Amino acid sequence: MLPLSPDYDRAVALLRAGELVALPTETVYGLGADAANPAAVAKIFAAKGRPADHPLIVHISGHDAVDHWAEQVPAVAWELMESFWPGPLTLILKKQAWVPDAVTGGQDTVGLRVPGHPVALELLRRFAASFGKGAGEHAGIAAPSANRFGRISPTTAEHVREELGDRVSLILDGGPCKVGIESTIVDCSRGEPVVLRPGHIEPAHLAAVLGHQPLIETASGAPRVSGSLAAHYAPQTPMRLVAGERLLDFLNAQRHKGGRCGVIAHSQPPQAGLPHAWHLLPADPVGYAHGLYAALREMDHAGVDLIAVEALPDTPSWAAVADRLRRAVAGAGQS
Ligand code: TXA
Ligand code: MG
Repeated sequence: MLPLSPDYDRAVALLRAGELVALPTETVYGLGADAANPAAVAKIFAAKGRPADHPLIVHISGHDAVDHWAEQVPAVAWELMESFWPGPLTLILKKQAWVPDAVTGGQDTVGLRVPGHPVALELLRRFAASFGKGAGEHAGIAAPSANRFGRISPTTAEHVREELGDRVSLILDGGPCKVGIESTIVDCSRGEPVVLRPGHIEPAHLAAVLGHQPLIETASGAPRVSGSLAAHYAPQTPMRLVAGERLLDFLNAQRHKGGRCGVIAHSQPPQAGLPHAWHLLPADPVGYAHGLYAALREMDHAGVDLIAVEALPDTPSWAAVADRLRRAVAGAGQS
């Protein structure tokens, strides 16, 4: 059950008036604006403190809106939509000429996603319907994660409030996000599909549709995906990855130095009397992803000097959370 009955009428009125609305999705909360309104989209960048050349994902209510936003959509993209939408998959496609540069960061592509959250879908349907028949019936909501730039993505309405306060006119509460990490991004705009950002939908799941393993982008060139910056998703407290078998020695050493450590573990149970705060996450990647960002936030509030995170298994199904952790470690403690 959803905790509150969301105020869709107010949300649609605000979006139509060019204001920001935070909305729940199954991955993380988004900070939404009318994607066809460049002035509204500019408010997203201002609220997040995000560089203007970072493109945004456009959320749409269904497949029938794709051709309004994208052109030359390859067959393989339709197959991926068929299999994974609504859901945590963003497709990068050639954009229609009219799509504002504010949304695409001036690129010739657009990111599209049909989110798998009932509140997001209902809002998208009502927002599009508010335009009546015509081009507006395929209206979309541009929404990056509803955090300040470089920080931890929000997975509850309360986190959004903590991140953005009154910079957002309305926060729709859809409860805690099921998936907990951002969508898998697949670029279908230049021939062979390429995974730009790992997520809940793994290469193996994509391979089942594609008939072969997808390419995975590893080189970090221009910030086409801000989640691909080396430092991202980061708490204010410094973080260290520590192998599970070394964790207790590490904590003892820290204690002797007088440091107060917080721990995020998945296999090592809390040790009585040792560190200041201990968060045990599930030892499976899906459960871990669901709890990760809330755990990082909790540790950031725990008054510790260092967050020690038990290193993750090096297997494909852990890759998406391992990616988020690496970037969090790289960005932690920098502000
Ligand atoms: O799960 C998600 O994807 C969440 C929810 C709210 O949908 N959104 C999200 O947005 O994570 P954001 O802006 O934090 O990350 C979206 C990523 C950005 O890193 C952006 O660079 C990339 O998508 N992106 C958007 N359009 C793109 C494009 N045309 N080409 C390459 N990357 C693109
Ligand atoms: Mg983000």
